[in-house]
Amino acid sequence: MKNDEGQSLADPGVLKKEMSRRDFIDWVIKGGILATLSGMLFPALAYLWPVMGRGPKIDMEEVGTLDEIPVGGSKKVVLAGSALLLIRTPQEIKAFSAICPHLGCVVDWDGPKREIVCPCHAGIFDLEGRVVSGPPPRPLPSYPVQIVNGNIFINL
Ligand code: FES
Repeated sequence: MKNDEGQSLADPGVLKKEMSRRDFIDWVIKGGILATLSGMLFPALAYLWPVMGRGPKIDMEEVGTLDEIPVGGSKKVVLAGSALLLIRTPQEIKAFSAICPHLGCVVDWDGPKREIVCPCHAGIFDLEGRVVSGPPPRPLPSYPVQIVNGNIFINL
């Protein structure tokens, strides 16, 4: 038996050449299928991957970096016209309104005493923003904080 080029199919070199062509076509088809499946699977996995690894949730604003606030320290920032007090504990960053709910003075963090103080009428708040003493009628509003790659994000 002879092929289209007149070569004998009994010749082992001819069969090997035919098999190589088939293998090549098989690999092209399998590669195409794999590439198509990867193209469909990657976006699905990227969508399902946890948000923490990629960036903050939508509506969160960056207000600084962890390096700017030592453990036990604080920083005041203004975000969307609101004054905020950030406090760094050994475990987390806490964010409160820096405006006292009594008459609107700006509060400060007293690190050694671990309390938030209002200088106007001696209002004192604990590390959860609750009123400890003084005239403030309610706790300091607090805000969710998220740390992403050493950057601090807050959701007002
Ligand atoms: Fe803060 Fe009065 S304004 S205690």
